[in-house]
Amino acid sequence: DALGGKMALVGRRWFGQATESYTLDGDAAYAAIAGAASVEFNRVTPENSMKWETIEPQPGVFDFTLGDKLVAWAQANDQAVRGHTLVWHSQLPSWMNNPAVPWTAATLKPVLENHIRTVVRHYKGKIDQWDVVNEMFNEDGTYRDTIFYRTFGTDFVKWALTWAHEEDPDALLFINDYNFEYRGPKVDTAAAFFQSLVNEGYPLGAVGCQAHLIVGQVSQAGITAGLQKFADTGLLLYLTEVDIRYEIGRGNDIANYTTSQVAQQAKDYYELTNACLAIDNCLGMTLWEYTDKYSWIPGVWDGTGAALPWDVRLDKKPAYTAIMEAI
Ligand code: XIL
Repeated sequence: DALGGKMALVGRRWFGQATESYTLDGDAAYAAIAGAASVEFNRVTPENSMKWETIEPQPGVFDFTLGDKLVAWAQANDQAVRGHTLVWHSQLPSWMNNPAVPWTAATLKPVLENHIRTVVRHYKGKIDQWDVVNEMFNEDGTYRDTIFYRTFGTDFVKWALTWAHEEDPDALLFINDYNFEYRGPKVDTAAAFFQSLVNEGYPLGAVGCQAHLIVGQVSQAGITAGLQKFADTGLLLYLTEVDIRYEIGRGNDIANYTTSQVAQQAKDYYELTNACLAIDNCLGMTLWEYTDKYSWIPGVWDGTGAALPWDVRLDKKPAYTAIMEAI
């Protein structure tokens, strides 16, 4: 297939990146590494442009401009596309969060159905993996209190999977979350819920483990056990939003870190990559932006950062070499 050459680089696994067309357009050196000129990546995820607030900014009014640009870029650069994300409590448009007009099951269900069907139909055949539901669990394994859960209980998950599958039966459908890498109440309860969905015949195909991790807190054995818990359900797996940040107050420039701190991050990337490779069901991993230059991390957690394998100057770190060694 068209991806043959790049797939050879990583065996049968995917190595992806999150990005956006406007970032690629504005930075030629960055785009060269991201695109076909390099052989690094065989898959791409839109970091923001397919989220509800962007893709359906007004009720029933869809804006595929940015999503279409990224899909066209992906096709021109021989990269597959992960769709992110159909149902999420965050980055919803303001019209969905209007307290003056509370949702009822009768009013929200057709809105949800139209959103999912319209977006999946638009990208049918162009997007082969969809994060159907994002971040639906709390750390203690209970369901997150969102407009979707409050209104429908867990039925929204079953409907979302069914509608997405009806629109594109070939797409691999995911439930995606953070802190999905290590055993604990969240992973164990989610795995049981996923098993019940599979047993009941819902078209869930894979679990997305975001893998927003912290330097010095990565354990290959621990992650292998977490991933195996999901793999035991028969579902496929993917590390969907990988970054491994420093939390020691030295900021986003790797030049501020000592040799041993840099080596620790490389080791952490090596262990994470190997944890995926050790499990047949793990399809690969995607970096949440490949470079510190465009990482979301420093903007969210002050003083943290330097989380990606390429630094703010677009130079490769030992973390990059570690991933390639593992592969
Ligand atoms: C983040 C983006 O990277 C930021 O640019 C945006 O401001 C907020 O969202 N989990 C997810 C992603 O599923 O969609 C989030 O992406 C990071 C956490």
